[in-house]
Amino acid sequence: MDFKINPVEGLKGTIEVPGDKSISHRALLLGALAEGKTHVKNFLSAEDCLSTLTCLEKLGVAIEKLSPTELLIEGVGFRGFREPADILNCGNSGTTLRILPGILAGQDFFSVLTGDSSLRKRPMKRIVEPLTQMGAKIWGRDDCNLAPIAIQGGPLQSISHATPVPSAQIKTALLLAALLASGETHIEEKHKSRDHTERMLRFLGAKIDIENNSYRISSGNKLSAGEIDIPGDISSAAFFVIGGLITPNSELSIKNVGINPTRAGLVQLLIDMGANIRQTEDIEKSGEPRADLSIKTTHLRSFQVTEEIVPLIIDELPILAVAATQAEGESVVSGAHELRLKESDRIRAICSELKKFGADITEKPDGFIVNGPTRLRGAVADSFGDHRMAMALAVAGLVADGATTIKNAESVRISFPNFLNLLEEIAV
Ligand code: S3P
Repeated sequence: MDFKINPVEGLKGTIEVPGDKSISHRALLLGALAEGKTHVKNFLSAEDCLSTLTCLEKLGVAIEKLSPTELLIEGVGFRGFREPADILNCGNSGTTLRILPGILAGQDFFSVLTGDSSLRKRPMKRIVEPLTQMGAKIWGRDDCNLAPIAIQGGPLQSISHATPVPSAQIKTALLLAALLASGETHIEEKHKSRDHTERMLRFLGAKIDIENNSYRISSGNKLSAGEIDIPGDISSAAFFVIGGLITPNSELSIKNVGINPTRAGLVQLLIDMGANIRQTEDIEKSGEPRADLSIKTTHLRSFQVTEEIVPLIIDELPILAVAATQAEGESVVSGAHELRLKESDRIRAICSELKKFGADITEKPDGFIVNGPTRLRGAVADSFGDHRMAMALAVAGLVADGATTIKNAESVRISFPNFLNLLEEIAV
């Protein structure tokens, strides 16, 4: 499916974006590990999270769908999973493929995980190595780096591990394996990655010691079911926030957006760029802060993103490149090599596609440089089957002269199935 986008005057109205993808995955996984029934509200019913849900069902977890966004998970505890009779298909979801092995490594059975052609190219050694050190037996293509991967789980022992890159997926896999292991596991990361797992573990009653970027968790924890109310996904809101800022005449409110500080790097950066964004006082529910955002058109200044803030903004870098084309001056993103290892090589993809709109953007090994502002012209651009690329390029189309076509845009079903409808509702 292609998206056809025409330039707009602005974005006007009040909207909500769907539930947070990262938190929805964790609600499923931790709900399954808990004892009792976990009630999940504002679940993201999109393909990635449904991959996690289906894998858990194949592992013997009963999940009742009360509505598309409300679930009741019958927790099985740490040891109640059963061997899946078939391969677990993680689809396009890196979060499923990297986190679920943390649980499977500690189960006394055999399982095989795979995914679509994009996921089967993404590196897995980052979780395979530490889980193997903990005692699991894992096999995979390319010397255990690529899916399909096969896991023979069993008794695990604790480790002390410094992650090779800041990654919430690695950290989460190891925290979950640590729950099943003997002794105290210690994880260290160079820069802090998103902390949804730590927050939810505590919310469900586990004890985890956190000091800056260092995490300690011991055996002997158990999780008790609770009600998990998921905030709107700031990574989905980002397309509307930036769309609102760069179109000529916008006034937009987005309700109930998750503003966890390990995810909200974009809001702070945009405010530093002079953006007219107001945020209501935040409220905390289920261990996660949330607030309403109001956005008005702003002539933005350029920005710098360096290695230490990359984890706080990693999924927003494609849409930030679009903002940079409309900002005054030279914007630089560096230290973001991880962006090449996402659903597509997002550094190459955003540079090649924004050039088709006439943007002044230069690809670097670990980021990009944009000189702005540039008057963009409508283009035929490829999303490379990557949901965040499709939505970022659609926003570029809102400020380009003439018509834009985004190829392979059906990928938005991964994280934001009603993106186009919502955009059409508020475009003026
Ligand atoms: C995610 C973590 C991030 C992010 C991904 C979701 C998660 O990846 O890019 O979209 O839910 O843990 P890493 O932190 O592993 O790089």
